[in-house]
Amino acid sequence: MDDGLVKCLELVKSFGGVRAVEGVNLSLHAGVFSLLIGPNGSGKSTLINLIAGYYYPDSGKILMHGKDITRLKPHERFSIGLVRTFQTARLFTSLTVLDNLLLAAGTTEGENIRIAPFRRKWLVREMEMVEKAYQILELVGLEKLRDQPAGKLSGGQMKLLELGRVVMSGARVILMDEPTAGLNPVIAESVLSHIRRLVTELGLATLLVEHRLDLAMKYADKVFAMFNGRLIGEGSPEEVLTIPDVVESYLGERLA
Ligand SMILES: Nc1ncnc2c1ncn2[C@@H]1O[C@H](COP(=O)(O)OP(=O)(O)OP(=O)(O)O)[C@@H](O)[C@H]1O
Ligand SMILES: [Mg+2]
Repeated sequence: MDDGLVKCLELVKSFGGVRAVEGVNLSLHAGVFSLLIGPNGSGKSTLINLIAGYYYPDSGKILMHGKDITRLKPHERFSIGLVRTFQTARLFTSLTVLDNLLLAAGTTEGENIRIAPFRRKWLVREMEMVEKAYQILELVGLEKLRDQPAGKLSGGQMKLLELGRVVMSGARVILMDEPTAGLNPVIAESVLSHIRRLVTELGLATLLVEHRLDLAMKYADKVFAMFNGRLIGEGSPEEVLTIPDVVESYLGERLA
């Protein structure tokens, strides 16, 4: 049985009397671009924050590689490759795009300290990191801008560079809460299509919250639909959009 890279089991989280997340079961798999959809207040951000460790659940469990990580802090999850991005990532605006990537290298592994006395290993590792940085630059479409200061990039390019930094740091599971917020539809699509490439080429597991379904559905492999804290549907984009509860919860919001 394929249990997924990250598995949520019966997650529950309340704020006072509000049940923000109510018995959610969900798995994230390597190489799968997952979308999390649902009307305002349905619990999407709370779920992302539970998986990233910004909140602890009232009950339920989160597993990664089969190990219980429910009580790990966000930085401990980061160090094993589970990262929430776009709210926290910061660029060094006066440094080049390439340097921004190189500075993020390997920060999840703690290897730098261990191999510090071995110069040859350092050199090999540096070469590997430069190669990896070039690969990521290409995947996020910033290869031609590698010598530009990061502060000169457009909003969409900055988001892609932030994402590149997260990947460079060794992240394997990436959680994104509305990464295209504030971007016009053309740039938002460009960001989504580059995320799609990263997920496929590097075998990342992702969970991404997006309101503009028309933009996001064509890039996703899988969709999880939430309503009132519960998962009310899951499947391919085509499947989920035919589930009556999903259609109704969205129409309800649009008509409200
Ligand atoms: N820190 C908090 N304190 C109190 N209530 C909260 C908190 N965070 C979320 N809630 C409540 O939990 C419910 C789910 O909120 P959440 O932000 O997870 O929804 P969402 O699906 O991300 O909504 P949106 O689409 O507007 O971003 C809402 O009723 C919200 O008011
Ligand atoms: Mg939200």
